Amino acid sequence: MQKALDYLGQHEARFIRELCDYLRYPSVSAQSAHGKDLGACAQWLARHCSGIGLRARVCPTAGHPVVLAQFRRSGVRRPHYLVYGHYDVQPPDPLELWHSPAFTPRIDGRRLFARGSSDNKGQHFAHLKAVEAYLKTGVELPCDLTFVIEGEEEVGSASLSEFLKKNRSELGCDGVVISDTGMPGLKYPALTYALRGIAALEITLRGPSRDLHSGIYGGSVENPAMALCQLLAELRDGQGRIRIPGFYDDVVPLTAYERRQMKRLPHSDAAYRRFLGVPRLFGERGYTSWERRSARPTLEINGLTSGYQGEGSKTIVPAWASAKLTFRLVPDQDPARVTQAIVRHLKRLCPPTVRLEIKTLHGAEPYAVSPTGELAQAGVRALRAAFKREPVLMREGGSIPIVTEFKRILGAESLLLGLALPDANAHSPNESINLDAFAGGMRMSALLWPELAGISAGASVRGR
Ligand code: BES
Ligand code: ZN
Repeated sequence: MQKALDYLGQHEARFIRELCDYLRYPSVSAQSAHGKDLGACAQWLARHCSGIGLRARVCPTAGHPVVLAQFRRSGVRRPHYLVYGHYDVQPPDPLELWHSPAFTPRIDGRRLFARGSSDNKGQHFAHLKAVEAYLKTGVELPCDLTFVIEGEEEVGSASLSEFLKKNRSELGCDGVVISDTGMPGLKYPALTYALRGIAALEITLRGPSRDLHSGIYGGSVENPAMALCQLLAELRDGQGRIRIPGFYDDVVPLTAYERRQMKRLPHSDAAYRRFLGVPRLFGERGYTSWERRSARPTLEINGLTSGYQGEGSKTIVPAWASAKLTFRLVPDQDPARVTQAIVRHLKRLCPPTVRLEIKTLHGAEPYAVSPTGELAQAGVRALRAAFKREPVLMREGGSIPIVTEFKRILGAESLLLGLALPDANAHSPNESINLDAFAGGMRMSALLWPELAGISAGASVRGR
């Protein structure tokens, strides 16, 4: 094992160069113009995995391909773990706010800047490099591994469930390891035991058949932009509490234990406020900022479009107005049920002066796993040994849509061991990965495999 850890230290400079090559692919899944880039990125990744010594293939799906890369001993039944990640990234916009181009990786001190560096290429790359260390030093990997790296996570993982169903027997496993979450600081390695779910929709209000002169017609027809603002304003109160009947019905309240754990996380509201550049923090009464952003459901407007957006003024009543909305959900809210309640409420609220169109987009269930279970505790031990600090337990506000499908289709729980620091700027301009977190992540991964092999060796946990 020490040989593998030494290898990680000795080859770090090359690993970073390779990660930079990976980061040069603008694999933006939300934009169809990048379809070819996603394909090329998947090919690069599969080739890279083959070079490490894994059996790799690019698997086509109805959407972007999935890269599978395996290390399996034939003939023997050994513990088998999946490592999940995604090679797709969020759009880099707004481009002008980047200090260097989003797909031209730049290193400054111990930070590597590029879209996808933390979310998620850098994080799963750390696992690949740990496996490389085993394979290149001849240290025996104590379990079978399959990397499942998809290209649609940032748009809801629509094709991956089907892929899991089709490849169920090959992917049968004892657990799924995922580094696609955060850690509060280098001194706070973290095990995430709950994620929020999501319900996404786009609503459009249509008024006149074309943009109209606001002087000639304004006052006699509804303004769709104004109607939309009024409609949206009805959905939430001034504190962020959602005003949709039934919305909170299935929300499991936070336990006293969880609230105590959260208070132990390093956090200062004042520093948090300054870090985000807001004049004041916001949120539901009776909850701390940590609770609000990780364990309470929310409604966000992600985009709002209507009327004239160019320079100067233009006096019109726009023909339509639309909004992209996402609701973050917590256990036990169900995206389909919540979406029904939202749609029903929107229809009730919409005035007869405009036509309402609702497009439901992706959805994902919230996820929670016991932080004291065997899988989680194996992760805690690996984190502790790699970062030489006591790990913290967290809930996080982001979503990884496929985790509940791993559970449903493969019967496997996920172990969430995130490496993104709070200043990683995921989904924002100037995304980065901290190279010490990357190095710690590689060590954590190397130390994890014996821990995981230990808990499932000989056990019938898997039942396959
Ligand atoms: N890495 C994130 C998920 C995440 C971020 C979990 C921070 C916990 C903390 C992932 O890539 C992501 O952004 N997921 C999307 C999913 C959505 C598009 C369905 C998200 O949460 O917005
Ligand atoms: Zn993301």
